[in-house]
Amino acid sequence: MSWTKDYFTSTIGRKFLMSITGLFLVFFLIEHLAGNLLLLLGDHGLTFNAYSDTMANNPIIRIVEIILFLSLIIHPVQALILTQRNRGARKTGYAVSKAGETSSWASRNMGILGSILFVFLVLHIANFFVSARFGDLGIDANGNKDIYTKVVDSFSMAWYSLFYIFCFLALGFHLIHGILSGFKTLGLSHKKYLPVVKSIGIILTVLFTIGFISIPAYFLINMII
Ligand code: HEM
Repeated sequence: MSWTKDYFTSTIGRKFLMSITGLFLVFFLIEHLAGNLLLLLGDHGLTFNAYSDTMANNPIIRIVEIILFLSLIIHPVQALILTQRNRGARKTGYAVSKAGETSSWASRNMGILGSILFVFLVLHIANFFVSARFGDLGIDANGNKDIYTKVVDSFSMAWYSLFYIFCFLALGFHLIHGILSGFKTLGLSHKKYLPVVKSIGIILTVLFTIGFISIPAYFLINMII
């Protein structure tokens, strides 16, 4: 088994791990955004709570959650190790970074952007995930755990909503470079398909940024008017 150890501790192996976990996290974000947009239905969170309840009690989702949390650890750890290696050897960038690339600011600042997201995730999981799974939340009119009220209470603090909006902008910059970089590392960026891959990256980034920001923005605006 030493070849697997050699591969996954080599630069290319670590980049592969980073890309595969990063792309898995993108799939998680698609599902997570779709679920969270249910918060905006105006039904006092009944649909959102029912959705959260179904997810929390689905054994397949619980297994996927383990992969999710492993990815959330593996992805930044590989990034840190690769950054240290690059610093020690020569000044290469992230997986790819050509001067003049539209996302070059993002590519040069992936470390800072990733660090902001790491802090966001620690606070986000501590506040929402821990209380949703282990907290003493109330029950809604349909008998489901009332996670909606927990979300609304959090976003009714203006600073909290503004902090989320700031983090989602960081997420957008992180993704605009990260998705393309991940595809390239996985060899999915043949010259012929590069425009398609680039478009997928841009479309997903715009959807995630606007979609996620719309949630705290909605509660913030509701609070003001
Ligand atoms: C306004 C946007 C968001 C809202 C309202 C939101 C809400 C929530 C809630 C309520 C939970 C607990 C769900 C449960 O366990 O039943 C949760 C979990 C989680 N969120 Fe978010 N989230 C948002 C954005 C994000 C973003 C952008 C990320 C990643 C960058 C993220 C990552 C996670 C992770 C990793 C978990 C734990 C796994 C899970 O429960 O699925 N969230 N979120």
